[in-house]
Amino acid sequence: DLPRACCLILFGATGDLARRMLFPALYHLHRDGFLPDDLTVMASARSEMDAAGFRARVSEALHAFLPDDDFDPAVEAAFLARVHYTPVDVGDRAAFARLARGVAALAPRDKVVFLSTGPALYGSICQHLGAAGLVDARTRVILEKPIGHDLESCHTVNRQVGAVFREPDIFRVDHYLGKETVQNLLALRFANALFEPLWNGTHIDHVQITVAETVGVEGRASYYDGAGALRDMVQNHMLQLLTLVAMEPPSDLDADAVRNEKVKVLRSLRPLTHGDVGAKTVRGQYAAGAIDGAPVPGYRDEGERQGSDTETFVALRADIDNWRWKGVPFYLRTGKRLPRRYSEIFIQFRAVPHSIFASQGSDPLLPNQLVIRLQPEETIRLQIMNKIPGLDHDRAMRLRSLPLDLSLSAEFPGQRRRIAYERLLLDAIKHNTTLFVRRDEVEQAWAWVDGILDGWARAGEGPAPYAAGTWGPSAAIALTERDGRTWHD
Ligand code: BG6
Repeated sequence: DLPRACCLILFGATGDLARRMLFPALYHLHRDGFLPDDLTVMASARSEMDAAGFRARVSEALHAFLPDDDFDPAVEAAFLARVHYTPVDVGDRAAFARLARGVAALAPRDKVVFLSTGPALYGSICQHLGAAGLVDARTRVILEKPIGHDLESCHTVNRQVGAVFREPDIFRVDHYLGKETVQNLLALRFANALFEPLWNGTHIDHVQITVAETVGVEGRASYYDGAGALRDMVQNHMLQLLTLVAMEPPSDLDADAVRNEKVKVLRSLRPLTHGDVGAKTVRGQYAAGAIDGAPVPGYRDEGERQGSDTETFVALRADIDNWRWKGVPFYLRTGKRLPRRYSEIFIQFRAVPHSIFASQGSDPLLPNQLVIRLQPEETIRLQIMNKIPGLDHDRAMRLRSLPLDLSLSAEFPGQRRRIAYERLLLDAIKHNTTLFVRRDEVEQAWAWVDGILDGWARAGEGPAPYAAGTWGPSAAIALTERDGRTWHD
């Protein structure tokens, strides 16, 4: 249900996210006819410039970040005509009054405010928006991650934003929820009768979630060095994946039905504390090494980070204390400067209770595995045991684990892989919060992560070094091997 006359008010419009993701996503939505005809964008940032100057910047970003095939000058011109600009210094009340006049001139009925600035500014921006008369019953706000830095600062942001906006009008972004394969996880689990009966500790041995990146911290060191991999990736993206794998079937796709189930999972996460450091939580930091054969410097050698104890790698064993998942470890690992870029959910089923093939000297049976790849390719693979065709000289039947393989790009050739923000922006415009994070959800995630941070602080150990281009410190390997399991690679 697309609203008529909608204005998207974007704070942080000259920032990296807007350039790389938001404007390319809006361009695609415009080109493909998904935006309301009368949607306008009111961009704002601190820099003084006029609309023409800002449009030139957007155009430059579109050229830089859209693939050539997607680019069409006529579409671009029509898209840029929707974009307006008002400079706003977020500490300046008069600037908000100017912004309000600029927005009023566009005569919107609905307003969607996107805050892509640091979270420390969210509260005061919302307050100014309210004071300037920009918030009414048809205004909603999108908050980019991170929502705070720990539970306490997250509470503060939520309280300040909540003083101006109602919870159903607050859209907290986790861009992983906009990824196709993440949503396909719901389809896989709840649109098939096959998996759900097996989706529990009786049949599943363990789950692994890996988000591996080859990049370093790029140009974001000032943010990243104060955050680290646990806050940057685990608190949000990885816990979102974990909840979608682990949650009970919601009654329908209604936003609260889904989010209620996700919160229950977060509440069931066993706290990881001081005593788990090393055995269940591992932190690493990349040292000099090589990615794809090219040498790269260590984290501390890039920029001014000598002596930094920020982790660029985390591996964890999470346990979910509920009936379904009792005794099923969820191993999570994420890091920068790892050997390959991929994100996947790996589910290992239990072994067959008894092998009828063993007496004939057959190869050992491997347990079934379900591997859901989110990126770089979108695939779902189920490993099953098969007979190797042919006659055998001895009596043994030769067996091998082989994949039932589904590639979404092969099934849907020619389908462009959409930027996650396309769906998220569209859902926010349509006022659908299902793929956004609710207040209790983000706070529960921080509460769990705070326990780990506290454990690390009390242990007083810095992150263990790992050479760039390797799979993290050796303690990460030991984390699974201690339980008689290995990371899937
Ligand atoms: C962001 C993190 O939220 O997600 C980045 O801040 C990370 O550090 C990025 O690189 C990964 O997203 P994706 O979509 O490339 O897996």
